[in-house]
Amino acid sequence: MEPTEPSQSTPELHPDLGQLAWLVGTWRGAGVGDYPTIESFQFGQELVISHIGKPWLSHVSRSWALDPSTGEPTRPLAVETGFWRMVPDSLDAELLLAHPTGYVEIWTGHVFEKSIELITDLVGRTATAKEMTAGKRMYGIVEGVDLGWVYEMSAMGQALQPHLSARLKRDGDAG
Ligand code: HEM
Repeated sequence: MEPTEPSQSTPELHPDLGQLAWLVGTWRGAGVGDYPTIESFQFGQELVISHIGKPWLSHVSRSWALDPSTGEPTRPLAVETGFWRMVPDSLDAELLLAHPTGYVEIWTGHVFEKSIELITDLVGRTATAKEMTAGKRMYGIVEGVDLGWVYEMSAMGQALQPHLSARLKRDGDAG
């Protein structure tokens, strides 16, 4: 007998995730990056936050370098994948992320309207990963429609400070 595929219709967002509904979407845009140990750079990013009706969101981000004079993509940069969860009946969120550069992280955060600030609760890194010990992230809806996000990290012996900031548009939005 053939296995039965689950229904392909779009499920309702799980009620636990109501406080994060604003984050769900396919987001694309650009940002800038810097750190004391590297040259500053511009990047493009696609962030896909999706759900299947279960009490978690899937998070997949990929990015690429942009030529500062032409704006054209040049080379692939960071990729990260993970899951968002909400502590039921609260504004507290949890985020799990894995990076191919050798890190796994557990983040905890707090939702405030259409924004969230998170800090790392745990950072694990492989023997070959560069030194990185802590991070801070903020995601939020900017001017009603765009998704802005900023990332700070403590890495390479440096104090917690900005590495990235970006502004993304929801797929399908003009402009
Ligand atoms: C959109 C996401 C990101 C982009 C576009 C990005 C881009 C970059 C670039 C261009 C560099 C310079 C070295 C190189 O060219 O590869 C770099 C270095 C670095 N990034 Fe990121 N990054 C991102 C996210 C992250 C995240 C999430 C982490 C930590 C989990 C991270 C940790 C580092 C570290 C530790 C370095 C090395 C600094 C050094 O060698 O001194 N980056 N990043």
